[in-house]
Amino acid sequence: MSEHVRVLLTEKEVDDRIQAIGDQINKDYAGKQVHLICVLKGGSFFLCELAKRITVPVSLDFMYVSSYGSNTQSSGVVKIVKDLDDPIKDKDVLVVEDIVDSGRTLSYLLEMLRERNPKSLRLCTLLDKPERRMVDVQVDYTGFQIPDEFVVGYGLDYDQRYRNLPYIGVIEFEE
Ligand code: IMP
Ligand code: MG
Repeated sequence: MSEHVRVLLTEKEVDDRIQAIGDQINKDYAGKQVHLICVLKGGSFFLCELAKRITVPVSLDFMYVSSYGSNTQSSGVVKIVKDLDDPIKDKDVLVVEDIVDSGRTLSYLLEMLRERNPKSLRLCTLLDKPERRMVDVQVDYTGFQIPDEFVVGYGLDYDQRYRNLPYIGVIEFEE
């Protein structure tokens, strides 16, 4: 069986959209410092591109959570592999994610962060698959809503590969 990646969103489309989200964040956080929390590993490419376009003061932290489950489905049981380095109390926190799928990972994560009493807590995701939602999650900034297909690139992997693609593609399997 061979794998083939069909382009869903080109590099230019993704970059233009990230610029637009950056512009919106700059307006919404004017006069504030935004504390970006990257959810590793998938959110890392989006975080870098987004952070470069933010002009208000930025600080960064990283968190690594793994959700038990198969390659293509999360179970909702989330394990913190790497916690944040710094407290988020009284900070304007913006969580940066690659994709909201069932919503299970994010709903768990946001609840946990809320208990640490940030001044504000918002969510920014590059991709959203609304058809797959099992748990309600409020998304404040969305790059693209996409259909229910398994995508790779721009940080998203299939079995740890394809994260480095500079575009978003759908993985297809051929005999
Ligand atoms: P959720 O808990 O179902 O929302 O799952 C979110 C996580 O599943 C994401 O952070 C990704 O790591 C992974 N995921 C969901 N859909 C895809 C996809 O289409 N491609 C690659 N990873 C995905
Ligand atoms: Mg992720």
